[in-house]
Amino acid sequence: MKDTQSAKERIDDLRKEITYHNHRYYVLDSPVISDAEYDELMRELQRLEAEHPELVTPDSPTQRVGAAPLEAFQTVEHPLPMLSLANAFQEEDLRAWYKRVQGLLGGRVFPMVCELKMDGLAVALVYEEGRFTTGATRGDGYRGENITQNLKTVKSIPLLLLDQSPRRLEARGEVYLSKKGFHKLNEERARSGQPLFANPRNAAAGSLRQLDPRITAQRPLDIYVYGMGWAEGGPTPSTQWHALEYMKSLGFRINPHNARFSHLDEVEDYYHRWLEAKEDLDYETDGVVVKVDSLDYQRELGEVGREPRWAIAYKFPATQATTRLIDIGINVGRTGSLNPYAILEPVNVGGVTVKMATLHNEDDIRRKDIRIGDTVIVQRAGEVIPQVVGPVVARRTGQEHPFVMPTRCPQCGAEVVRPPGEAMARCTGASCPAQIFQLLKHFAGREAMDIRGLGEQTVAALLQAGMVKDVGDLYYLSREQVLGLERMADKSADNLLNAIAKSRSRPLANAIFALGILHVGLETAQLLADHFGSLDRLANASQEELFAIPSIGPKIADSILAYFRQEANRRVIEKLRQGGVRLEKELTKAGKLPLMGKEFVLTGRLETFTRHQAEARIKERGGSVGSTVTRKTAYVVVGADPGSKLERAQALSVPQLTEAEFVVLLEGDGQTQPS
Ligand code: IVH
Repeated sequence: MKDTQSAKERIDDLRKEITYHNHRYYVLDSPVISDAEYDELMRELQRLEAEHPELVTPDSPTQRVGAAPLEAFQTVEHPLPMLSLANAFQEEDLRAWYKRVQGLLGGRVFPMVCELKMDGLAVALVYEEGRFTTGATRGDGYRGENITQNLKTVKSIPLLLLDQSPRRLEARGEVYLSKKGFHKLNEERARSGQPLFANPRNAAAGSLRQLDPRITAQRPLDIYVYGMGWAEGGPTPSTQWHALEYMKSLGFRINPHNARFSHLDEVEDYYHRWLEAKEDLDYETDGVVVKVDSLDYQRELGEVGREPRWAIAYKFPATQATTRLIDIGINVGRTGSLNPYAILEPVNVGGVTVKMATLHNEDDIRRKDIRIGDTVIVQRAGEVIPQVVGPVVARRTGQEHPFVMPTRCPQCGAEVVRPPGEAMARCTGASCPAQIFQLLKHFAGREAMDIRGLGEQTVAALLQAGMVKDVGDLYYLSREQVLGLERMADKSADNLLNAIAKSRSRPLANAIFALGILHVGLETAQLLADHFGSLDRLANASQEELFAIPSIGPKIADSILAYFRQEANRRVIEKLRQGGVRLEKELTKAGKLPLMGKEFVLTGRLETFTRHQAEARIKERGGSVGSTVTRKTAYVVVGADPGSKLERAQALSVPQLTEAEFVVLLEGDGQTQPS
């Protein structure tokens, strides 16, 4: 008996101590003991509970995953309905809301609380005498599902409150999955061949609605509590801000970015700040919830239907929408890759109409189980091409069918192969018009031969007219021929021919890049140009020679060897040479590169080049680029908002160049010619 008594005391102490450390670790993110010490406490508690099973209680920290799988979820009534929010999509909507509220409050000023709107699943957590007893989903707002046993596995949800004075209390918040947790989960699912989740929200919802809590326990779910539902006993805060502080003192996890403002302009600033910064957060947020701070005012304002008048969700522009996948088309890339793309029923995604989206590759389509006819989630982020995130499986009708990669190229009918270990299927047709079209576009690109005026339409017209069959043919075009093209005026013909002429003396690195050798990007092309100095030497390089170059691995080396083994490619190169294209590294009159031996350091933002381009120009001319200013530095190029490198250059009296002076210096070798 005595023994049980002391065991009970020790168990109580251990539970309190573990609860405290859980809170430090999962809520405050600042543990005060090591993982090993924590594990030791847990083990002691587990041992005592095993010896005294009658002392096990559901709120014990050992009971986060203990429950057996359910047959179905029970229904839970919400004594205080869980409301939803009206949306504001632009500033006017927010201002209209503010004016309406101000009018209803008789012109009184009212502070507001701004919270990031979490994109997860709303839950209500009930505590009795400080113990977590019931957790439920929002459901229809009046009735939700009892998911207590799953919520207990969420480590940042306290099982015991730090202060047990309130008799009964309901906390409301959003359970979510971090972006990192989401990617990790999807990677695991991909590895084990399970369908992927479309976004963190779906993954969080799917995880919480598991009948087996052991599955939920494996998902790194987290919570932010954003309000108090109802309470009996304990303090009664008079504002939302104080309610949040109170919830925090009880041990709940509160978003540290919440803020309180008196003026609408500050709310606008907050919104714009987070619109910019939200990508840096490790969770998804789809807007800012603006709430009238005073709880008295909230009661006075009341609600219309299921939306409170005292709050509004000021949404960030949507990045996702759902629509129907009408079909899957195939684009043939310049290296022959068959790139599937989605043909969609047009849908508005954050103000832009999207009709097409990328689908990456065959494996990705299979992993995500995207079928033709599916309702799919389309996503647009920043300036990138829209992508299909995944299907909405619940909307399937049975009419959908899986995608099969064609075995023949849809453009030229040649056989399609998929080399082992590669994600891309490729067309084997050497004269596939789609490949030539893409290659010509690439060849003319800015970082390649930089032929202005040779856009998509002109490329198509040249191919159509049969004037160009490969990139070499560009250097044999006559003025008459070009003028014969549809919609080609005198001036544009001259511009095009001048641009082609100018491209004959492009630096070797750009010319190598322009050939479009698989896996050879501009950086690799630069390495190859530096190492071999001429295309001939590169074309005749052995595997050993290629391997000897640092940062060129077997994949790139094999691709280069395969390219030059093809007789057709050698013929094109010969054509380029005969057409006057310089296929050697450029040298000055004196036989030396103009910036040979000079080290440059760049600081600040340049207007006319990217960092990468500026470095490439320096290297093409024999110079090198350093990262710190030393006495050996030849020049420091100073762009906008320069860093401390400028001060150091001044201190060491290293010459400084403005961007304009830098451009002049680069052009100073205009008279370079082949050796
Ligand atoms: S307040 C009446 N605050 O948004 C107040 N909701 O559209 C309703 N949500 O179901 C809740 N973050 O799932 C509130 N900081 C936040 C929120 C938030 C996300 C969700 C919640 C709710 C939905 C309402």
